[in-house]
Amino acid sequence: MYRNEKGCGRAIQNSGLDRSDVFLTTKIPPESMGYEDTKRAVDSSLRQAGQEYFDLDTGLRILLSILIHAPYGGKEARLGSWRALVEAQKAGKTRSIGVSNYGIHHLEELEEYIQSGGGGEISVGQYELHPWLDHSDIAEWCQSRGIVVEAYSPLAHGTRFREPVLRTIGGKYNKSPAQVLIRWSLQMGFVPLPKSVTPQRIQENSEVFDFELDEEDMKLLDTGEYSPTDWDPTVDED
Ligand SMILES: NC(=O)c1ccc[n+]([C@@H]2O[C@H](COP(=O)([O-])OP(=O)(O)OC[C@H]3O[C@@H](n4cnc5c(N)ncnc54)[C@H](OP(=O)(O)O)[C@@H]3O)[C@@H](O)[C@H]2O)c1
Repeated sequence: MYRNEKGCGRAIQNSGLDRSDVFLTTKIPPESMGYEDTKRAVDSSLRQAGQEYFDLDTGLRILLSILIHAPYGGKEARLGSWRALVEAQKAGKTRSIGVSNYGIHHLEELEEYIQSGGGGEISVGQYELHPWLDHSDIAEWCQSRGIVVEAYSPLAHGTRFREPVLRTIGGKYNKSPAQVLIRWSLQMGFVPLPKSVTPQRIQENSEVFDFELDEEDMKLLDTGEYSPTDWDPTVDED
């Protein structure tokens, strides 16, 4: 969907980084829900990212993780997609599997399927998470089960940098609003996924391990607001 699998695969191959240091995540798009379509989507992603060039049997293989992008298509399609991901994992095509944008009712449906013999393990849950989008119920559901919570749009898609609270807290530590948001995400126990096409910002976004927000800062950032910057399929009833 983002048309960046090929570029990411090539960048990783050319980076010289030890592949065990790299996490590459891709997703099954909504139009590929269901068992057969998901199987095809996994193979297409692997081809696009150039996985056939990687040695899948050594410890150096990329830590690939494949997530279902959104809980669309109804129960049968969701569970069919999951079955295809479990098979892909067993076949060594991906290290871990998970979901994105699943509401608690979708997560419970999947948990019941897994526990009743469907198999697999939800390793990752990816959600829009920042101080102006309270998904704490879902994050707690995942974290209490040891599921890694990835925060997408952790910078609120670049829409909140002028919030006074970010200026105040940033001033205290001499950090930018983006760095405060990434730090908040880390302290919430999330894995933030800040996006930038600007090298200087990518560098800036990595410089967040030399300060810590205190309790008061965290409280100020606990706005309780529910303002998605993008879609929110977690509330989908189907
Ligand atoms: N699972 C899903 O449904 C879903 C949905 C949406 C997004 N995502 C994922 O989440 C990732 C990030 O989300 P996002 O792109 O929506 O939002 P984001 O990371 O919250 O914000 C990105 C915006 O912030 C700007 N920015 C980044 N660092 C900055 C800095 N240090 N100072 C000032 N501006 C800065 C970027 O500008 P420049 O790029 O111009 O530097 C861009 O405009 C994406 O890579 C995507 O894979 C997932």
